[in-house]
Formats: sequence, C-alpha cells, structure tokens
Amino acid sequence: MSVGSLRPRPPVLSLIGNTPLLPLRFAAEERTIHVKAEFLNPSGSVKDRLALCIVEDAERRGLLGPDSVILECTSGNTGIALAMVGAAKGYKVKILMSDTASVERRYLIEQFGGEVQLFKATAGYGTGIALSREMAAQDRRYFLPCQFENPLNALDHEEHTGREILAQLPGPIAAFVSGYGTGGTITGCGRALRAAHPGLKVYAMEPAEAAMLSGEMPCCHFIEGVAGGYVPPLLRSAHIDQPVKVSSPEALAMTRRLNREFGLLVGTSSGANVAAALRVACNLEPAARVVTILCDRAERYYSTKLFQR
Ligand SMILES: Cc1ncc(COP(=O)(O)O)c(C=O)c1O
Repeated sequence: MSVGSLRPRPPVLSLIGNTPLLPLRFAAEERTIHVKAEFLNPSGSVKDRLALCIVEDAERRGLLGPDSVILECTSGNTGIALAMVGAAKGYKVKILMSDTASVERRYLIEQFGGEVQLFKATAGYGTGIALSREMAAQDRRYFLPCQFENPLNALDHEEHTGREILAQLPGPIAAFVSGYGTGGTITGCGRALRAAHPGLKVYAMEPAEAAMLSGEMPCCHFIEGVAGGYVPPLLRSAHIDQPVKVSSPEALAMTRRLNREFGLLVGTSSGANVAAALRVACNLEPAARVVTILCDRAERYYSTKLFQR
C-alpha cells in the first residue's frame, strides 16, 4: 500500500456518528437530561468513532499494509469496534482484553473475525498496554492504535461528537457529564462544548469503588468500560471541574430504569452517566441543560449482574 491511500469506506461505516440526542424527562426530580445515543453506532458503542478515525488516519499515513494486524488493549468496546472496522475494510485485528471483561464482548469480537488474547487484570489496563508494546516491538506487522494516548481519540470527539451536540441543542448548556475509560469522550466533547459555552462545567463520572480522580485507590466495581485502574494520559489534558462518584448498585439501578422505564436497552456505564448527570442537574436550576452519553448496548452484559434478577 502506498503512503496516503485510503481503502474504500464500505456502507456500514457510514452508519458511524450523527447519533440522536434524546431528552429524558425525570418527572419526580423535575429535570430533563439530554442523552447522546452512542449505543446506536453500528457495532453498538461510542468506540466506533475512534476505530474508524484511527484506522483511516493510519491508512493515510501508510501505516497499514496487506499483512498488517491491528493490535489493541481494550475493555472490549474498542475491540468490538476495531473488529467491525477491520472486517469491513479487510484488516486482521487482534485484541488484548482483561479476563474480567464480559464474555459477550469476546464473542462479538470473534464473530467479526477478530482474535482475542486475555490477560490477568491484576494491574488494570497497564498490564495489557505493556503487553501490546512488547508484542509490537517483536513483530513489525502489528499496528497499535494506542487509544489511551492517541490525540486523535479526543480530537475526533471534539470535531464530531461535541459539535453534533452543539448543533442538536442550540442555546445554553450548563453541564457535560461523562465517565472515562481512555478519557477521549470527556476530553474531546468537553473541549468543544466549553469553547461554545465558556461557563459550562465538565463533570467526570467515576465509580465510587474506584474514584481515582478523587484520590482513592481503585477497587472492583461493576461499571464495565470505565475507570480501569488507570488514569489515562489523555485525561491529564482534560478540563474537569469536578468528579462525581456513582456506586455500582446505583449504576445498575439507573441502567435498569433506562431499560424498563425509558425502553433504552443500554449498558451499565450509560446508567452510571445518567445517575451522575441527574445528581448534577438536581443541584442546578430546573431549566439548566445537562448532557451525557449513552455509551453502549445492553446485549453485551447478559452474563453480568445487570441481567441478574
Ligand atoms: C462501556 C463504556 N463506557 C464508557 C467508556 C468511556 O469512553 P472513553 O474511552 O472515551 O473515555 C468506555 C470506553 O472504553 C466504555 O467501553
């Protein structure tokens, strides 16, 4: 492949982005939370944006050839997204995933034709990131998207997700609330929204059991995809006004409310985001507009506590 040649973009990839922004009315609290429906991306999560952006950037820079293998450490959603983009564009994908990630994520990656290698989650994401670097140092076929530090991750959210929100919600926005895995969503959307509304506050949702921005030690929690025992480099450049702690039981309860009261079949980090956003909104005047993200679909959590009665 010559430097700068983009492989054609198959039709499925045109389904990425431009997701709806839905107003959710919480009658008892007399508040409306505006949610960006990222679970509607074609592989089911916000991570489709990052996967397409990084793969096409690598194509433009001549970093992907016919024998390349895209290799990434992920909590699962980036793996599913890269496997989907890889399937559509004809690249091999290998995913390093913690052995605590839900088994559905593994099956979905494999269904797209990707390969999964599990690692013990003892040292959080750091273990998998170090392993991916070692593997790439030994085999030049590996291309590392490096989602935790790649500035394109945040830039794509700034130029697309953030700008979409601004176009969908004209007028003042008081707050943006988001959890962080790589920190791409909160850093990029936060930048776009604050540039348009300088008074807007950015709140980082974090699991109460792993509230690292609040200075606490990471521990086990059920909000998959966020706070993986690691404060990612991308997040260090983010403007965050305040962390908001959400416990695993609170996240599960709000996710079930979204499933059963609103008909939104989303996963646990979406519930955690909405729980945090509702708490933020309740401390603001009733008309203040608060935006958050519905990150992924519920189907990848069948084997987790979310589906236990
Ligand atoms: C389910 C889920 N929610 C939220 C996030 C956080 O997104 P970001 O990596 O942009 O911080 C992720 C990221 O992996 C995720 O998988």
